[in-house]
Amino acid sequence: MIQGGNGERDSFSSKFGVIAAAAGSAIGLGNIWRFPYVAGENGGGAFLLIYLIFIAAIGIPVMMSEFVIGRSAQLNPVGAFKKIAPGTKWHLIGLLGVVSAFIILAFYTVVAGWTLEYLLQSVKWAILSGKLGFSEMSNEALREFFTNHYEGFIAGIWRPVIWFVVMMAFTGYIVISGVKNGIEKYSKILMPVLFVLLIVLVIRSVTLEGARKGLIFLFKPDFSTIREAPMKIVIEALGQAFFSLSIGMGTLITYGSYIRKKENLASTAINVALADTFIAVVAGLAIFPAVFAFGINPGEGPELVYITLPVIFQNMAGGMLWAFMFFLLLCFAAITSTISVLEVIVAYFSEQLNMTRKRAALMAMISVGFLGILCTVSPDIFGIFNASPDLMLPLGGFFIVVFIGWILARDKTRKELSSEGTHTTGYFPLFNFLVKFVAPLAIALLFALGVYSRMIALFPSLG
Ligand code: PFF
Repeated sequence: MIQGGNGERDSFSSKFGVIAAAAGSAIGLGNIWRFPYVAGENGGGAFLLIYLIFIAAIGIPVMMSEFVIGRSAQLNPVGAFKKIAPGTKWHLIGLLGVVSAFIILAFYTVVAGWTLEYLLQSVKWAILSGKLGFSEMSNEALREFFTNHYEGFIAGIWRPVIWFVVMMAFTGYIVISGVKNGIEKYSKILMPVLFVLLIVLVIRSVTLEGARKGLIFLFKPDFSTIREAPMKIVIEALGQAFFSLSIGMGTLITYGSYIRKKENLASTAINVALADTFIAVVAGLAIFPAVFAFGINPGEGPELVYITLPVIFQNMAGGMLWAFMFFLLLCFAAITSTISVLEVIVAYFSEQLNMTRKRAALMAMISVGFLGILCTVSPDIFGIFNASPDLMLPLGGFFIVVFIGWILARDKTRKELSSEGTHTTGYFPLFNFLVKFVAPLAIALLFALGVYSRMIALFPSLG
């Protein structure tokens, strides 16, 4: 286990363990809760297409860059930059990542807490479904029932706060248990189960009457939606790509530092990106057909999953038992992500500030706890935190690719990617071109557009 700055460092013990942990970080609420509603708000298919291009041309190069930095330094994001680029200001990028980790962990753990509320409610709904008259209700009525429940729950204070605290405590427990015996162990079990369950849901959703419209919405790009609000769509697609892959804030620098030297970083990154994208698309396939079949508005916003899915479950044999299983797994998917964000802070506190792992985790949890409670009581703060990854992560990602493309010596990067010559790196010229030119230019441009469009939204007179 990692013990402060001087103890022997923990690491992932197998190739599958690395992929499960990194994919565990990547796959989470971002895929199942955020992707469908952001895609829904931005026109569906056209958004998906842009998103896929960003994942391939920007996301994978950033992810590989993070792995290279982490594994070559074997340290947290701040320590890693200090070690590789001593005497420079590059470690501030690591620090920006730690700050992002605080913000993301706060709102993310709040939404993760909602899964626990729904877990409990689904047991109640399963038991009381006869009494509540679910089977006699029309889909309209069911939708209204679940909308009322969602709105009542969010407007309250205590329940969201309690679930947030419980979720934070689970996350802390796993992180304190260490990399191999905590993070890797749980990710290896939880990720495959999530996958199977999602597939079952897709089958139910696409076989509903009226499901076709949802498939068209997701897979047939309608470019008129892009023409209406091009800046908004591209910056949200970029932000979502970064958020979903867990890149741009040093999470994968941290995980990269636990990857053994012999592992192939390029194939790990590609596998993780493929798994992540696949799950986002599958989540879309589970949600949009049902959204259209039940006449729900796909641009509904953050509540999409929490209202739509219970309606689908009630339409399935077994009803609310499915809801229970789904929210259990959504909760697991969220935990494998929250632990990765907490790990960024814990690795930083323990290695740079010389704390024990336990103390580091407790300090982090208390401070994030404070921010999280602010998010539960104020929808405005929640909204700002939830929107922040769209700008913060691309900003961090920009400097990470610039560092790899322009600052770190090319042979060093290649040596790390090839594990000292063990793996072939025929892709290197392409990778180099992407990190040197394509990714930095594209991110800089989109970032500028993103800032501009937010300014216009705030001060319309500028437009
Ligand atoms: N990638 C996670 C998801 O899609 O749910 C969220 C996340 C985890 C974002 C870790 C950033 C991060 F560093």
